[in-house]
Amino acid sequence: MPKVLISDKLSPAAVQIFKDRGIEVDVKTGLDKDELIKIIGDYDGLAIRSNTKVTPAVIEAAKNLKVVGRAGIGVDNVDLPAATAKGIIVMNTPFGNSITTAEHAIAMMFALARDIPQANASTHAGKWEKSKFMGVEVTAKTLGIIGCGNIGSIVAERGIGLKMKVIAFDPFLTAERAADLGVEKVELDELLKRADFITLHTPMTPQTKNVLNAANLAKTKKGVRIINCARGGLIVEADLKAAIESGHVAGAALDVFEEEPAKTNILFGMEQIVATPHLGASTNEAQENVALQVAEQMSDYLLDGAITNS
Ligand code: MLT
Repeated sequence: MPKVLISDKLSPAAVQIFKDRGIEVDVKTGLDKDELIKIIGDYDGLAIRSNTKVTPAVIEAAKNLKVVGRAGIGVDNVDLPAATAKGIIVMNTPFGNSITTAEHAIAMMFALARDIPQANASTHAGKWEKSKFMGVEVTAKTLGIIGCGNIGSIVAERGIGLKMKVIAFDPFLTAERAADLGVEKVELDELLKRADFITLHTPMTPQTKNVLNAANLAKTKKGVRIINCARGGLIVEADLKAAIESGHVAGAALDVFEEEPAKTNILFGMEQIVATPHLGASTNEAQENVALQVAEQMSDYLLDGAITNS
């Protein structure tokens, strides 16, 4: 009977699926790297979210490991070359949390447009600063989406529903898909020049890393607002800070940071920054979806050799 270790907090539904499929499952969360290395040799499968770091040392100790399943999209916490060299399949669940992450981006856009977190803190503090918080409407504004795949296209639909003009930069977006979505496909420079709100929805790759750096921020419209619920390294935080301090960028809503967990950050404490701790996928629905999907996919592989989303 194959044996799976769940080493991050996953919906209990995943445990049930493994059991129903005849797979033995242990749940051990919060292991440090030495503890994981000590026990990983017992397992055929490892189910994770983002906390567990699957390093070359973990892979080296994983004598029986056949599959790592990431309940979520990014596999940044898995050393892919080391896993591949050992013939270990790494799979993710690319669709289960798309709606949830898109909704977080929209929530962040409104938080930014209307200073909701700042006004909330001020009101709780008994200040009643009614005249301090003057927002902007999103209706008729241009929403620039960088990366119009699973999540970006849901954001596009929501933006259109909010009566925004939606433009998108994505080299993989076909003209037909753009037309179906009702978005205008543009080049990056055009998007930077026209957007009132810019939202990022690309994975972190060598091509996308630092896409919002000083040079590109300088091409944006004065007063632009930026939302990032994708990956921290897409924005150069020092350059964003400088662009906010100069008054060029009106503000940014960030769910992700160059270094995570972000206990400190050069942007923290700035009035124009709305920050959440990588909550993009954190809804009951999304966590249930990704847990179920990863458990089914891993079971299919361990029992029948069927590979999905690797
Ligand atoms: C993902 O890659 O699925 C998201 O960033 C969410 C997460 O890591 O929890």
